[in-house]
Amino acid sequence: MAELTWEPPPPPPFPQYCNEQSCTPSQHSIIQRSPHSNNKTLPLFTDWASCSTCHRLSISWQDITNHQPLHFTLSLTTKHLTVMLHYPPSIMSIITRFILFVVIALAMRTHTQDVQACTVGFYKKTCPKAEAIVRTVVSKAISRDRGLGAGLLRLHFHDCFVQGCDGSVLLDSTPSTKAEKDSAPNLSLRGFEVIDEAKLQLEASCPNVVSCADIVAFAARDSVHLLGGPFWQVPAGRRDGMVSDASLALSNLPAPFFNVKQLTHSFGLKGLTQDDMVTLSGAHTVGVAHCSSFQRRLYNFSSTSALDPTLDEELVEQLKQVCPPPRLDSRIGADPSVNLDLRTPSMFDNAYYYNIELGQGLLQSDEALYSDPVTSKTIKSHAYSQQSWSNKFKLAMIKMSLIEVKTEDAGEIRANCHVINSNY
Ligand code: HEM
Repeated sequence: MAELTWEPPPPPPFPQYCNEQSCTPSQHSIIQRSPHSNNKTLPLFTDWASCSTCHRLSISWQDITNHQPLHFTLSLTTKHLTVMLHYPPSIMSIITRFILFVVIALAMRTHTQDVQACTVGFYKKTCPKAEAIVRTVVSKAISRDRGLGAGLLRLHFHDCFVQGCDGSVLLDSTPSTKAEKDSAPNLSLRGFEVIDEAKLQLEASCPNVVSCADIVAFAARDSVHLLGGPFWQVPAGRRDGMVSDASLALSNLPAPFFNVKQLTHSFGLKGLTQDDMVTLSGAHTVGVAHCSSFQRRLYNFSSTSALDPTLDEELVEQLKQVCPPPRLDSRIGADPSVNLDLRTPSMFDNAYYYNIELGQGLLQSDEALYSDPVTSKTIKSHAYSQQSWSNKFKLAMIKMSLIEVKTEDAGEIRANCHVINSNY
């Protein structure tokens, strides 16, 4: 018995919200040497067309040599389709092939139907005012404090990168579990009260219908738009997760001292490309970072240089005034914050990219993007054209918002975003 493991190749770049045209077919072949056929190769071709966000998948298999009759055993997990080829051979009839095709198609359908459930206008019938309610709440919050818009956008990112976009970042710790929101990278998250207010109003309007995860996705979109950025349609239908684990936040969220390779890897694990990563990082055009997130660049950068040499000199002086050396800071626990974008701190524009070109990216991970030939090219192009970045940002946000979405029994509609229903 030989084992052949097939992992779907990365989907093609995601051009626009799912439709048939956006699913580009591609062909991949898998060659497996047969131990019982004088080492003849047995090519299998699989044609598949996938839409990376909707995960609509069509698949067909063909034994094109026909030298060896085959018996297959299939198993499908979240990420892998495993095909076991059994020898010695028996007759591989057309009927068997047909059954095989049907099994794969059904398995794929079961596997992907959850993601297909994310659609634009998901609440049109069940809670027609859902998106309007969220928008009104977010709009009021942002008119009180524009920083909340930045907070809500980051909340969505931190939700999606840890066990998918399932509202797990909103769950409170329990006596037995430390939740994501209590892990170090999430301590500075803000905007939770805005989600609570939206949920309160939604439960009054249409109880048990709108998930916390969808509220977070709508709120992030509305924040970007209300801060002057683009608008996009959010596919909805996410269900809320029932687990929140602080250690998963630590291991899944990229750190502000990551280099390009590490950042690319971190986004790759979530099905996002390096280009998506550079495009989404433009979110740092709004909001703040606390001194603790970049202080190392000022005082303790490396064994050869206390100061990060890529930092603009004038910026260094300004930052040092706000962020004293950690050891000399007598104000225990004080951790002031600085605008991520020095030029237009609360406008959702492309200033982030020309800040980076000038050595004025606040986080080490931001400035690192200018040190790599490929990502620096993308930085330059986004700095040049706000419109083209803006268009790409929308698409990348939709892609991010569909990471490991839970539907059906894999999730629930929480009555209160802080606790799972069985504990409420
Ligand atoms: C590329 C990897 C990324 C890293 C390493 C990173 C890291 C950080 C850090 C350290 C902060 C400051 C936290 C603080 O000190 O309070 C921050 C803020 C922020 N991040 Fe990121 N981030 C990344 C990508 C993203 C993405 C993809 C988004 C959204 C799409 C995003 C949105 C934001 C926003 C809006 C803020 C400001 C939050 C506020 O003012 O409350 N970040 N990020």
